[in-house]
Amino acid sequence: MQIHISKNHEELSDFTAQYLVDFIKNKPNATLVLTSGDTPKLAYQKMAVLGKGLDFSQVTFIGLDEWIGIPPESEGSCRYIVEENLLKPLQIPSQNYTFFDGLSDNLASECTRIDQLIFEKGGLDLIIVGIGLNGHIGLNEPHSSFENYCHVSDLEEITISVGQKYFTQATPLTQGITVGLKHLLEAQTAILLASGSKKADIIQRTITEEISEVLPSTVFQKHHNALLFLDEEAAIYTK
Ligand code: PGA
Repeated sequence: MQIHISKNHEELSDFTAQYLVDFIKNKPNATLVLTSGDTPKLAYQKMAVLGKGLDFSQVTFIGLDEWIGIPPESEGSCRYIVEENLLKPLQIPSQNYTFFDGLSDNLASECTRIDQLIFEKGGLDLIIVGIGLNGHIGLNEPHSSFENYCHVSDLEEITISVGQKYFTQATPLTQGITVGLKHLLEAQTAILLASGSKKADIIQRTITEEISEVLPSTVFQKHHNALLFLDEEAAIYTK
């Protein structure tokens, strides 16, 4: 695992945006999985500025996860967050990206659709994820198998309560659909993004605890090219 520590969220976002733009410059046909959440929003906004004029015509973007039952236009959906902050500002054509449909009445086929896309592309070049306070990665909750490709998960109470911050009104959340940890393990590059003191404990546990499905984020210890992009507050116990 390589750890890069930025001074604060602003600098973390600058660094991440530059990394992603350089990555695409070096691999113009890259297949990338992008996380939602509050942490990456500023990086996406900065990438939308840095990436102006870059050729995205061969890039494929895939959304990391969705809440089951939440429409794509909801402000808390992965699609909304990534589209509004990155894809729309860069005018990326819709054929270059896809997200899970959290409203689908056939979630198994949604999983198959995204799995097949990733396999057709020869696996992921890059996956960028955030981390939940319980160590979840995407919506791979504690006890998610490292052998899972895309799958549906039952959400823990903490994910349901913290998840309310993405919505303007109380929203019932019970399940998620997510890219699984096996795709992450098979990706060429896996980036974990964390900012702020509230993430400091879980980052320390991610780095120091024994690799286990009980703490999904320890999957990063297993990855051959794992990058942790942190700010000083999130990194406080790593030094
Ligand atoms: P956050 O979400 O960026 O809003 O903290 C991270 C996550 O739960 O994956």
